Amino acid sequence: MAAPGDTEIRLLRADEREPLLALLGEWEMPAPWEGRATDFFRRYVERDPSFETRNVVVAERERRLISCVQIFPRVLRAACEGGGGLAEVPVGGIGSVFTRFEARGQGVSSALLERARAEMRARGLELGVLFAARHGFYTRLGWHLWPRARPLWRRDGATIQPEAARRIERFDPARHLGEVFALHRAHDADRPGTCVRDADGFRAQLAFAGNPDEEFLLARDAAGALAAYVRGIVLEGLYCVTELARRAERAGADALADLVVTLMQPRDPDPLAPAGRASEALRALLVGPCVTDPALDAALDARGVVRSRFSSRDLMLSVLEPAALARRLGVPRRPEDDDAGWLARAWPPERMTFWPADRF
Ligand SMILES: CC(C)(COP(=O)(O)OP(=O)(O)OC[C@H]1O[C@@H](n2cnc3c(N)ncnc32)[C@H](O)[C@@H]1OP(=O)(O)O)[C@@H](O)C(=O)NCCC(=O)NCCS
Repeated sequence: MAAPGDTEIRLLRADEREPLLALLGEWEMPAPWEGRATDFFRRYVERDPSFETRNVVVAERERRLISCVQIFPRVLRAACEGGGGLAEVPVGGIGSVFTRFEARGQGVSSALLERARAEMRARGLELGVLFAARHGFYTRLGWHLWPRARPLWRRDGATIQPEAARRIERFDPARHLGEVFALHRAHDADRPGTCVRDADGFRAQLAFAGNPDEEFLLARDAAGALAAYVRGIVLEGLYCVTELARRAERAGADALADLVVTLMQPRDPDPLAPAGRASEALRALLVGPCVTDPALDAALDARGVVRSRFSSRDLMLSVLEPAALARRLGVPRRPEDDDAGWLARAWPPERMTFWPADRF
């Protein structure tokens, strides 16, 4: 879709970070970012190591930025048919999709998204990833909704407290970063649909994953060794577990389940409880990440956590480089395949963990 003729579509210039943030500052965001949209987006501009001005596509009209789209280059682990461990796939995340109010409905954002796809292809990114509620808009532009089963963990009268001897502490980057990063790497190494983060990326990501605050708890075994961690934020009034990791053995599942029930305990004061929402109610229901872990499920059952699942309809994918992606995943395309049909075989939703902490 072409933007109106008086609109220039181009990449952001080096001296345009503040104009970009001023544009994004017009986004009417819900609490807790109400009136603070510039602060929200500044994290992705100043703290994300993948930020480069060439990763932002903008529209300019009458010497003003009126619309933007940010590309977030990432590497995702993917199951690869034919063995040999997981493949690492260069993907392009899409976020910060915004058009100034008075320029909406004229095709500007559609044109920017098309340009962003071309930019991602030019950089060798093979799959586009975005999180959105406006599915029709993105579907018309070549994106596919990729619903995933997401767990709900509910506390009720039978839910028990963590083992009394369990050592649980708050994550402190100054003291714990090394051991936490090591557990993250070991846990995610064979988990498809997770983002590859190096130590710097892990540290940097801490600065923009919160919303604005996150809870990050560690659990240790009797010998004091790290056994599990969990991260959580409040999003649209719901407590969301945004990432977790555990040691592979059974004790790791028990430690992680103890962390989950710890998150469920009401507290006073509760720094995460939104205004007017009691801690008791907020923590009665946790939205889990899209993770398949039977040993964790068993450990949660043993603690009286009521488990269910719902279909999470937020992730959308777009195949950017069909041939390269098919080679990388070891799943050839059949003549009758369209992108969605091929993706359903090559990268089914249950292989797409994508921690909410990695969202953009
Ligand atoms: C979502 C958003 C980015 C769209 O920007 P936009 O520049 O208005 O986008 P477009 O003009 O390309 O498309 C918007 C609609 O106008 C339609 N449209 C585009 N050109 C048109 C034209 N010339 N005549 C009539 N309709 C047109 C599109 O088909 C689209 O329809 P849809 O909403 O039913 O899908 C904008 O509304 C916005 O900034 N919203 C707030 C932030 C936000 O929600 N971002 C997305 C997060 S997922």
